[in-house]
Parts: sequence; C-alpha cells; structure tokens
Amino acid sequence: MVVEPKTRGFICTTAHPVGCAANVARQIDYVRKHPHFTGVKKALIIGCSTGYGLATRIAAAFGAGASTLGVAFERPASRTRTATAGWYNTAAFERYAQEDGLYAKTVMGDAFSDAVKQQVIDIIHKDLGKVDLVIYSLAAPRRAVGETTYFSALKPVGQTFTSKSLDVSKMEVATATIEPATQEEIDGTVKVMGGEDWRWWMKALRDADVLAENAVTTAYSYIGPQLTYPVYHDGTVGLAKRDLAEAARQIGGDLASIGGHAYISVNKALVTQASAAIPVVPLYISILFKIMKAQGTHEGCIEQMLRLFSQKLYLPTPPTDAEGFLRMDDWELSPDVQEKVMTAWEAISNEDLPAYADIDGYRQEFYQLFGFDVDGVDYAADVDIQIDIPSLS
Ligand code: NAI
Repeated sequence: MVVEPKTRGFICTTAHPVGCAANVARQIDYVRKHPHFTGVKKALIIGCSTGYGLATRIAAAFGAGASTLGVAFERPASRTRTATAGWYNTAAFERYAQEDGLYAKTVMGDAFSDAVKQQVIDIIHKDLGKVDLVIYSLAAPRRAVGETTYFSALKPVGQTFTSKSLDVSKMEVATATIEPATQEEIDGTVKVMGGEDWRWWMKALRDADVLAENAVTTAYSYIGPQLTYPVYHDGTVGLAKRDLAEAARQIGGDLASIGGHAYISVNKALVTQASAAIPVVPLYISILFKIMKAQGTHEGCIEQMLRLFSQKLYLPTPPTDAEGFLRMDDWELSPDVQEKVMTAWEAISNEDLPAYADIDGYRQEFYQLFGFDVDGVDYAADVDIQIDIPSLS
C-alpha cells in the first residue's frame, strides 16, 4: 500500500512504517554518536512507544546497554488501515535492539489496569528479576478505574482564556478561547494525568519485590512560560502535574528503605502527539524552536533524554531545584530565550508568521511523528503495513 498522511485536527490518522522505523534509527544513531553512560541496567518504561518515553527507552538501551521492558497502548494494522505510529516505532525499536543483542519486550495494553501491571510483574519475575529504573511517561486522554472512566481536559481553571494560537490544520495564527473547566473536568484530569496511577504502579512493583536496591523512578512534567500558565501550569493539567509532584514525594519516602529515589523531570516543550493537542502550545513551540535553533540550543526528545541520563539523573548527586525537580527545561526557560519569545509573541501575526516562528520546522516535526516527511524515505513506494512487534508475535 502507498501510505499518505491523513490529518484530522491535531492528529494524523495514518502512519508510515518505513518512516517510523527511520525516526527510531535516527534517534539510535544520535545516541551511538555520544559517549556511553552507566547507571541503568534494567528499565521499565511506562508509555514507551512515542515522544519522551520512546526516547528514554532508546537512550537507556543504546546509551547504557540496558534491558528494557515497555508498556504502551498502540493499535496494530488492520487489512486496510495502518497501525499507529507507536506500534511501528516499537516494532522498529525491538528489531534494532535484537540486532544489538539487547533484551527488549513490550506489553501492549492499558497501563492503568491491574491486569497490565500484573503482566509486567510476571515478565520481570521471569526475565529480569528486578528493575532498577521505572519511567512513567503516560499522556492519555482517559483512564478507566473499575466501572468509571475519567477524562482529561486541557482547560483553564476559574477563568476563560483567550490567546493567540496556531491552527495546526491550516498552520495559521488564530485566536483560541477556552472556557474554564468544570469541577468534573478538573477532577478527571487529575485522575488521568496526576500521580495516583504512578503510586499504584510503584506499590505493585514494591509489593511484588521486583525493585532493585537503589531503584530510581522518574515521571515527566512540564511548567512552561507564563504566557501558557492559564491553560497549562495554572490549568487542569497543571493541577494534575502538582498531584504528580506530590506522588513523587510519597513514592520517594516509600523507596527510601531500599535506597531508592523518585524524581520529577521537568522537560522541554516539544512536538509530540500530546503537546499538539494543547491550545496555544504549538504557537509557543514554533516561536521557541526558531529562537533555540538560531542559538544552537534546540533539542528534540532524544537530545533531552540523553542529557537527562548522562548529565542529571545518573550523577552521584542529581542536580535538583528547590522543589526537588530535575530541570530539563533549563535552556528553554533561560531569561534570554524567554525575553525573545515574548517579543516575538507580541509581534507575530499571520502576515509575518515565518519571520517569528519556525512553522516549517513545526509542520515537519508534526508529520515526522507519524513517519512522514522523513529524509531518505520513498513515499511513492508500496509498503507492507502489517508489521509485527517481535516480542508480541
Ligand atoms: P506521547 O503522546 O508522545 O506518548 C504517550 C505514551 O503513553 C505513548 O507511548 C502511549 O502509547 C502511552 N499511553 C497512553 N495511554 C496509555 C494507556 N492507557 N496505557 C498504556 N500506555 C498508554 O506523549 P509525550 O509528549 O511524550 O508525553 C509523555 C509525558 O511527558 C507526559 O507526562 C507529558 O506531560 C510529559 N511532557 C511532555 C512535554 C511535551 O512537550 N510533549 C513537555 C514536558 C513533559
């Protein structure tokens, strides 16, 4: 089948298997060109198939030779429909890991469920004994707990928010007005994106005795600039991220008896399937990218995650801020960068979009999430969309 991108709003409903594999190969290549690091031997990555979780898995496996067990929620291809990008990424990752003699298995299922937690524990018992790193990198629209399904919402709290934004489907500056969240939406977002499920994971792993001495766990968060505060930091997701930070404190306390630690890593704003869905954020990201690329400080997921491992998490004393967070957004939030972002933000309009924002870069990275617009891939060629994930077949 010749696979073409089909976009609907801020998602693309098709994915290109060869392009996704090329994305994974590029990230592996980046890691291979950098010095190896030590610290992680056996890692569990919850949310391992795209974005930050995938990059974490690649950095751990190819940067430190770690065995990786991943959890993701991705769909295989049907006869007529491509698989999701995360499916193809995982298939490619496992194949490259196998080629290098690295252990890699993936559980495809709902990470929020007890069944998947048990399946993971069984695999660790059988194959790995214990894990020394647990990464929690879920970005999910919903979570089922028993009979109840909770939904996350990306909304301001207590006030309507109107701001410039980027209409991702047309790549035009637009005005976004978002009504405040209801109490149900606030509670739902905290349930889905907060720390409860991470705590449940860590308790289940601890009770099953599959955490190694000095085990480390890290969940990913975002703070961002003041201009996105109403919709992010002070909005529903921000409340969920505060709950995640509270979970880090509790989990850290629980892990102390085995010499373990729990961290929040505050990462940089990047183009991923999750961030494309947040109003205002895509416009901010395209301005930010233009400025950081000009400065030579721009990073993508793999650059961020390799720096997290090699320069923060596995230092003898990981450098944290006053709140105990690892700050991977240090370059993004530097006063110099933010000052330039604000100047561009005030000035930008539809007529002068490319002058202030890296719209082409944003568009390309968005399509690349789904395996399109990747250098060296022949998009006119017939490709097999039925790709197996080795550990699942
Ligand atoms: P993403 O959408 O690329 O990845 C989400 C992952 O979660 C995928 O592997 C997906 O399969 C998995 N997943 C979703 N629902 C699941 C379920 N029910 N069961 C099992 N797996 C499930 O997201 P991204 O952007 O990499 O986000 C990961 C974390 O990083 C989130 O906590 C996010 O808030 C955080 N973060 C993201 C930033 C960004 O700009 N993209 C910036 C800073 C932090």
